[in-house]
Amino acid sequence: MDYEKYLSARVKTLKASAIREMFKLMADPEIISLAGGSPDPSLFPAKELAQIAQEILTENPVCALQYGTTDGYAPFKEVATGRAAKVGCVAEGDKIIITTGEQQAIDLALKSFVNDGENVAVEEPSFVGTLNSIRAHNGKLVPVPMDSDGMNLEKFEEILNGTKIKMLYTIPTFQNPSGITMSAEKRKKLIDLAEKYDFLIIEDNPYGDLRFAGEDVPPVKSFDKMGRVFYCSSFSKILSPGMRLGYIVAPADVIDRIEIAKQANDVHTPVLTQMMAAEYVKRYDIEANIAKAREIYGRKCSFMLSCMEKYFPDGVTWTTPEGGLFIWCTAPAGTDIQAVLMEAIKNKVAFVAGNSFMVDQDKPCSSFRLNYSTMPEEKIEKGIKALGESLSKFVKQ
Ligand SMILES: Cc1ncc(COP(=O)(O)O)c(C=O)c1O
Repeated sequence: MDYEKYLSARVKTLKASAIREMFKLMADPEIISLAGGSPDPSLFPAKELAQIAQEILTENPVCALQYGTTDGYAPFKEVATGRAAKVGCVAEGDKIIITTGEQQAIDLALKSFVNDGENVAVEEPSFVGTLNSIRAHNGKLVPVPMDSDGMNLEKFEEILNGTKIKMLYTIPTFQNPSGITMSAEKRKKLIDLAEKYDFLIIEDNPYGDLRFAGEDVPPVKSFDKMGRVFYCSSFSKILSPGMRLGYIVAPADVIDRIEIAKQANDVHTPVLTQMMAAEYVKRYDIEANIAKAREIYGRKCSFMLSCMEKYFPDGVTWTTPEGGLFIWCTAPAGTDIQAVLMEAIKNKVAFVAGNSFMVDQDKPCSSFRLNYSTMPEEKIEKGIKALGESLSKFVKQ
């Protein structure tokens, strides 16, 4: 049966995530994937979590296996609130809701606040998961270009002068895909702009804990006195993405609305993983794990950068991130990155072509994203060498 004619308009325009598609290719064990955004698997505390899960299911099975509350398992809510408070993101009158990964937090915020056809401003490039979520909610994507210190606010203000923006979605710290961090001045200015032009902000911060160079910059929400910023974060990059634990902190009225939207979505986030995470944080020092992650990612990032210096042809430029998981590379204009990708896959290395992160995915784009967190160093070197060879075939000197 052909289901195409039955498909909803909101889903029809969505393209499969190039990154998810890449995951299928990764079934070939010989391919070195610099495409995903997964944590280094050596960081998963598998033994400790196995022990905790065993104890929970033996000693407290009903709580773990019964329906739970939509807003989250209380001890885990406390843990997540603590993390948000640590970076100044819990204001008086705020509430928190636990979500099934941060992806759901963002999706529910969009679902609750964006009507069909309303404008949602995004950094360009931006995170594919959110771009697709905005598309699925029939929001109109409005791209804002990036500078080396975050969104170009002059350009953004020009847009705001001519276009009514309902919401801004930003990843200010170690942005996916660019690795760029927005300056504190720009964060403060964003709050002023939100007041002046009356829009809401979704701040997406899954990577803030993963700084390995430079100085911390406070989240945008920490500057917000008016309750315009909804702060979303995740345990995916500091504990485990497979446990699907995220959260959103915002004024109580906002969270109450999101709670209703979540009831119609998945009722609640699995209690078992919330219990496991809460118990893990009680027994072990998660800050020590995060410190280890920073050390590993800092080392792998500088190693990848040194390999790029050695193997990439002249004319290719890249960002130097101070944290997070990604490097954004740009080949000279006119370089056919899709062709480079095909060649690279033949050479057994994969990355994500820049088009995926753009509002208009069909526009020519000579950029691409590399991930350094997942692969061990010897594979990083092998992969970058193979990618350098693939690039050399297509970059015109
Ligand atoms: C910028 C950004 N936001 C949100 C998410 C979603 O994270 P989660 O695994 O918590 O759903 C990701 C995942 O890679 C991401 O890169």
